[in-house]
Amino acid sequence: MIIDAVLTPAEIDTLPETDLSETVCVVFDVLRATSSILTALAHGVEEIRPVATIEEALAARVEWPDAVLGGERFGERIDGFDLGNSPLEYCRAGHRRIVTTTTNGTVALRACAAAREVWAGALLNMQALEERLRQTAPERVTLVCAGTFRELALEDVLAAGMLAHAFPEASLTDAAQVAHALYLQHQADVGAALELAKNGRVLLAKGKKDDVDWCGRVSRFPIVGVLREGVIRKG
Ligand code: MLT
Repeated sequence: MIIDAVLTPAEIDTLPETDLSETVCVVFDVLRATSSILTALAHGVEEIRPVATIEEALAARVEWPDAVLGGERFGERIDGFDLGNSPLEYCRAGHRRIVTTTTNGTVALRACAAAREVWAGALLNMQALEERLRQTAPERVTLVCAGTFRELALEDVLAAGMLAHAFPEASLTDAAQVAHALYLQHQADVGAALELAKNGRVLLAKGKKDDVDWCGRVSRFPIVGVLREGVIRKG
């Protein structure tokens, strides 16, 4: 198995033109989009539609009138939306369906849509990702680090490196080796590393330590979120 990593939003922009038909993409937006998506699935939400823009979200709700709208811009709930992007809100979403749009996470998920498989990844479901990857045994895996605005995000690269670490037999590209090296540096306390990351520091400054702590828990949910035909379900 070859494990590659896409570390920056600029590289994510190229994914729709990349042949991913034989590739499993695991998308990480640890703070907070994929952590919130997995939290929602673990708490009874059945279908989540990740979309890139606010306009797409509003259009999706016309198709899914029973859905709640979630997401953020600049980390804050979007005007008129029901939920923001805190995983704690997604514990009690209380709905079957959610449409969500975030600055980086949902964009990264959509960019991989043509891949053989697209999975939502986070620290929260690390063990489940590892097990699913062993079962699936694809020739190629791309660990997609959603980033923050146009920048690399430490927490996403760290999570990618943690998953790569579980496959010592795999061949790691240089990008995957960089992710792996970051994980080795922080493996003693992965959750604490989130507080060093820019996103973590911004959330702490806004009084959202509970979000950072939640997203820093490892292997809490034994589920994989699988994106098919534009919708994420427990797969
Ligand atoms: C994103 O998609 O850029 C993030 O999840 C932002 C956030 O933490 O709300």
